[in-house]
Amino acid sequence: MTQTTPLLFQSLKLRELELGNRIVISPMCQHAADRGHATPWHMVHLGKFALGGAGLILTESTAVDPRGRIGTADLGLWKDSQVEPLKAVVDFVHANNSAIGVQLAHAGRKSGSQPLWDGGAALSPDSMAGDEEPWERLGPSAIPAGPGWSAPDVLDESGIAAVVKSFVDATVRAERAGFDVVELHFGHGYLVASFLSPSSNQRQDDWGGSLWKRMKLALDVARAVRIAWPTPKPLFCRLSAVDGTVDGWSLDDSVVLAKELKACGVDVIDCSSGGLTEETRALPVPRGLGFQVPFSERIRHEAQVMTQAVGMIVDAHQAQAILEEGKADLVALGREALLDPYWSHHAAIALGADPGFERWPIRHGVWLAKRAPALRQFLEAAKDTSHAISTLQKKT
Ligand SMILES: Cc1cc2nc3c(=O)[nH]c(=O)nc-3n(C[C@H](O)[C@H](O)[C@H](O)COP(=O)(O)O)c2cc1C
Repeated sequence: MTQTTPLLFQSLKLRELELGNRIVISPMCQHAADRGHATPWHMVHLGKFALGGAGLILTESTAVDPRGRIGTADLGLWKDSQVEPLKAVVDFVHANNSAIGVQLAHAGRKSGSQPLWDGGAALSPDSMAGDEEPWERLGPSAIPAGPGWSAPDVLDESGIAAVVKSFVDATVRAERAGFDVVELHFGHGYLVASFLSPSSNQRQDDWGGSLWKRMKLALDVARAVRIAWPTPKPLFCRLSAVDGTVDGWSLDDSVVLAKELKACGVDVIDCSSGGLTEETRALPVPRGLGFQVPFSERIRHEAQVMTQAVGMIVDAHQAQAILEEGKADLVALGREALLDPYWSHHAAIALGADPGFERWPIRHGVWLAKRAPALRQFLEAAKDTSHAISTLQKKT
């Protein structure tokens, strides 16, 4: 590593974990699990991002409780038999030089939905099974997530304690599976986010009302997980920096929460937005390149915590600028990584950080390096002759 290595490709130490670069694959639900167990789909889906050179790969939302699944075919870590299939994925990723984290989640009042390709609507409670018992949605108050969604069962004290325990138990299983990072999903309107927002939490007890009471579940979970998760391993937390409702959770609130989470031992705040209700899905913030980066920038500076920026980060120079300008410590890619699982390698070429294909898996890189001079010569001679050639040019 030289002084001129672009920041995107400089390693980053988080506690005792050293990431090879600052590119993260954002969590993405696949609806491909078998009763919460990882399948060959997960091996290929997550494994290809390791071959593609990402520094850190985050799994999809992985349920800590079967009633906390977004869809019936989500990954889970609510029982021991789910550890081994995930461990096989973790081992593959490690063998290919990336780190891997698990995103632990409870979907709360937004549990039980169809995959987007089936419309994404709420499932009826009796169809919310998928080889497990049918389940009821859970939440802070009996307010449904939107039209067509059932009102959640209101959690009482023992129910809340059980939620905290389920995060802890899943964390212990995540350690047994060999994960490097746990990311707590406190965004997108799922259970913990629904406690944070005054739009969904209208409780009058210790868990609702003031900002501090609405934050209590988030902080209890973070504290308990931090104790269960080995000290050398970093803990991430995804927030919806704004929840997208009028008079709802604000960026000011996120700054306060981020400071408190840091005090609980959270190392990185992953700055997303929106998703509190199904009605306002389209409202949160205007979508555009890097549309959530300003949230990351403000939380990073005001809460003095490391952040991960996500949302329409598509280009190597854009990603590099976000880091160089101090707007985030890590950049995460979702859909762009689906489009190009080798994005990290292509970004390294674009930034001049890998002229010899040395970052590629050795089984591939050596062949690409051998082909490169001949291809360059050919491309030079045939300059601008066809669209196919210009496409090839971008990749060499
Ligand atoms: C197929 C798909 C599934 C997703 N599932 C999750 C998820 O499980 N957990 C989560 O926090 N975000 C999820 N997201 C949101 C992404 O992690 C990411 O924040 C979002 O897509 C914006 O980044 P992008 O513009 O790079 O795609 C999902 C996004 C996609 C496209």
